[in-house]
Amino acid sequence: AEESLKDIVALAKRRGFVYPGSDIYGGLSNTFDYGPYGSELMRNIKNAWWKAFVHDRDDVVGLDSSILLHPDVWKASGHVDSFTDPLFDCKACKSRFRADKFLEDALGVDGSKLDLAAIREVMEKEKDKLKCPNCGAKDFTEPRQFNLMFETKMGAAAGSDQTVYLRPETAQGIFINFKNIVDTCRVRVPFGVAQIGKSFRNEIVARQFVFRTREFEQMEMEYFCKPGTQKEWFDFWVDYCVKWLHGLGIKQDSLRVRAHEPEELAFYSEGTVDIEFNFPFGWGELWGIASRTDYDLRQHMEFSRKNLEYLDPETKEKYVPYVVEPALGVNRLFLAILSDAYRVEHAGTEEQRVVLSLHPSLAPVKAGIFPLTKKDGLPEIGEALYKSLSKVFPVDYDLSGSIGKRYYRQDELGTPYCITIDHQTKEDNTVTLRERDSTKQERISLDKVRDFLIDHVNG
Ligand code: GAP
Repeated sequence: AEESLKDIVALAKRRGFVYPGSDIYGGLSNTFDYGPYGSELMRNIKNAWWKAFVHDRDDVVGLDSSILLHPDVWKASGHVDSFTDPLFDCKACKSRFRADKFLEDALGVDGSKLDLAAIREVMEKEKDKLKCPNCGAKDFTEPRQFNLMFETKMGAAAGSDQTVYLRPETAQGIFINFKNIVDTCRVRVPFGVAQIGKSFRNEIVARQFVFRTREFEQMEMEYFCKPGTQKEWFDFWVDYCVKWLHGLGIKQDSLRVRAHEPEELAFYSEGTVDIEFNFPFGWGELWGIASRTDYDLRQHMEFSRKNLEYLDPETKEKYVPYVVEPALGVNRLFLAILSDAYRVEHAGTEEQRVVLSLHPSLAPVKAGIFPLTKKDGLPEIGEALYKSLSKVFPVDYDLSGSIGKRYYRQDELGTPYCITIDHQTKEDNTVTLRERDSTKQERISLDKVRDFLIDHVNG
């Protein structure tokens, strides 16, 4: 990708998409707030996902489970024991590092293949070659496993508080509601349960803007199927997810599908594919699709002592369903969409133009409405048009500055159409309709604007 992350971060702040978190207090590292346009874009992304994964499908239902779950959930899921990173500190400057990544960078070894014992061994053997990238010191603490779950206390009465975790994934809320949903919602295997919500991970290496943050949002679906059919469903969902991304306008060559090597697989997975996106800093995981077997339901059966088997109403067969899980980060997709859409035309010349070529259905603002001047009755026509359009979707009304400046502002917001009301409007009731990507302008009748936009900006 030609654009740099710096340009995208700058545009995101300048145009009210993403602000640094707690900005007036000097910021809180790795937190971000989504501004007026960013929150619209986020909402449009989530609505598009919900439509494709819930409303368009007869075999998927939605769920909105709690962020705080019973602590045993995370014992059953394996997160208490296994959701850890190997970490060590520099004794001199107190910087903290992920040992596997640190050794990869320093020695070129494959960190993903090293367990804690192997990491300690390599660090001991190679200690002369290792120095802190921040201060140059060579004295480090022993690496140890550090759990990524955020802990908090529940309950106000002294002494009665209980440690609970903020969920590190939305998936477990789905597994623990499997029985509730089967018992109440007339679903039949194969079926899916989809959920959108916040997750929290105390990531050590948290950087690259909103790519990896400690607080983030996920869109996950657990698809329950009969054992033996999981491969077929796995392939089906990988294909469905890739097509959905392209349908949102993401370019063909910005995506690739990569299967995990056996040693990369999470402990619950019999196969995982990452849909990777070519971010401004290189290829990175956008969407993980995992074949989770019956691992989670079986674990919850053991820990909760509830029977989570499924009884096929026709064949009377009883089994624990297998699960295929497409798990996607909303914020990561937001960054992918922004960087894929970002374009600079005529760079360095007077006509330089920055454009976000967002799919119209994702654009935070669907149209800009500009009366050419502040007089001669043009604002009145603009206001009436604004009133009628803003009932259907978000539109911006802008009276200030040259028309060129007003177009450029909307180009940076990704607004697909701009409508200018000029003196001819008063004579023949037509307006100028300008299309963002081509900058082509045509005159259309004022009465047709609303229907034209409805046809062109939704889905
Ligand atoms: N339930 C499975 C699961 O959570 P994951 O691969 O750890 O799998 C799924 O996470 C997706 O969530 C990732 O592909 C990524 O898009 C997003 N994600 C994970 N950690 C993230 C973080 N710290 N910041 C932003 N997005 C994250």
